[in-house]
Amino acid sequence: MKKTIQNVEIEVSKGDIANQPEIEAVVNAANAQLTTGGGVAGAIHSAAGPELYEECKPLAPIAPGEAVITGAHKLPNKYVIHCLGPVYGRDKPADKLLENCYKNALKCSEEKQVKSVAFPAISTGVFGYPIQEATRITFNTILAEIPKLKHLQKLKFVLFSEADLKIYEAMLDEV
Ligand code: APR
Repeated sequence: MKKTIQNVEIEVSKGDIANQPEIEAVVNAANAQLTTGGGVAGAIHSAAGPELYEECKPLAPIAPGEAVITGAHKLPNKYVIHCLGPVYGRDKPADKLLENCYKNALKCSEEKQVKSVAFPAISTGVFGYPIQEATRITFNTILAEIPKLKHLQKLKFVLFSEADLKIYEAMLDEV
């Protein structure tokens, strides 16, 4: 499903964040040390190869809400933007920290004049953020940021499950 908002095409689709060849920058749901992990971080690091972690090492650790940008190595993209989402129930205020993830990721993409970015549903896996609440924060944040962006033309959300896709589609339908 797609919708254009102020010249930025927003797409929601089901898939693997590590297999988005038409996208310039993919976002990693990282850990503070920027190492590999499960879920998104595992998929991104194993597809990118060990050189990704070599590039990440000197940039770590990052704090919840922060984002850093690296090359994408063996991934079919140009950049990876690594965001540390809040651990739900531990890192507070969770809503503000999640908002900062999306804002800071878009700040990184603007600095490199990126035209297309793909996001996973940050914090909604291992970090336990309830998907419905996280999706509302995500959309509110990107809608507030879009008018400020000069380079972005496409923003894609890549969901891993049919249930998450439905929630994102309903939200995109509303805005
Ligand atoms: N592509 C797209 N989405 C994915 C993929 C994938 N390959 N794998 C998992 N997901 C989905 C999950 O279903 C969840 O909805 O991405 C969302 C985020 O899940 P996580 O990857 O667990 O990210 P997060 O909740 O932010 O937790 C980060 O997990 O892997 C560790 O090292 C990482 O400690 C960090 C933590």
